[in-house]
Amino acid sequence: MKSTTNPAQVYTVFSPKGGVGKTTIAVNLAESLNQAGLKTLLLELDASPGDISTILELERSKNLMLAIDSPDSDIRRLLSVTSDGIQVLLGPQNPEDGEVIKEADLEAVLNRLKYLFDVIVVDTSSTINEAIAAALKRSDRVFFVVEPCLSAVSRSVESLRFLDRRLSIPTDTMELIINKCRNHGAIKEKEVVESLNLTVAALVSFDERYQKRAKNSKGGYAKGSINKATKQVVSNLYPELNNGKLRIRLRRLFG
Ligand SMILES: Nc1ncnc2c1ncn2[C@@H]1O[C@H](COP(=O)(O)OP(=O)(O)OP(=O)(O)O)[C@@H](O)[C@H]1O
Ligand SMILES: [Mg+2]
Repeated sequence: MKSTTNPAQVYTVFSPKGGVGKTTIAVNLAESLNQAGLKTLLLELDASPGDISTILELERSKNLMLAIDSPDSDIRRLLSVTSDGIQVLLGPQNPEDGEVIKEADLEAVLNRLKYLFDVIVVDTSSTINEAIAAALKRSDRVFFVVEPCLSAVSRSVESLRFLDRRLSIPTDTMELIINKCRNHGAIKEKEVVESLNLTVAALVSFDERYQKRAKNSKGGYAKGSINKATKQVVSNLYPELNNGKLRIRLRRLFG
């Protein structure tokens, strides 16, 4: 059951660079929000073959294109559910389809979803198309993922400038997630923050065991330091959930 009658908050995970961990973070964030008791939808706005459907072992036939092509259908029938109980609207099966989604199409889909969920986590591709631009504009919070390396940082600086000047997407909804941090990395996290001038939502360490697990198993996108970081992001977004838990715990101790 949805916990409020407010429209869903939209959190988009974005980076202009491929392979930095957008999908990993989006999946873990959705899982952490779901575990915190918020009714959560993971929306895939990336049509690269076999991303979320492969990772989470979901059948690809129910997807965003069907939702767009059948505006009067019950959108709940087009959602897939993971073994952890997270609901997912998968991206289009063909990359070409992803390119023709219009801003109004995405708006309409989000409007059909917004009173069914507390939060919608959007996973994106690194190339901005109309659908991704629409999601970025519509987001309550954009988690901008960057790796602490020079190429990722300079690409991110250009991208932030493009989003602001060409698409009029202000940076005030954006927070950084610095992923794959290493003790002796090419550049320090502090330099990343100074270059991009955004608040940091989370620092995620490079998790070698996680990467091995992800490579060896289909459903390897779970647990480890990434999950710890996304749990922290959720507690910062919803401090009242922590207080609620704390209050219950205190009541048990002293009540
Ligand atoms: N903190 C981390 N530690 C170790 N490995 C990680 C970490 N974050 C992500 N990875 C690994 O990095 C690879 C790329 O991650 P992911 O697919 O999430 O990136 P992406 O930004 O979504 O890529 P794409 O642009 O292709 O969609 C995956 O193998 C994933 O398991
Ligand atoms: Mg991805």
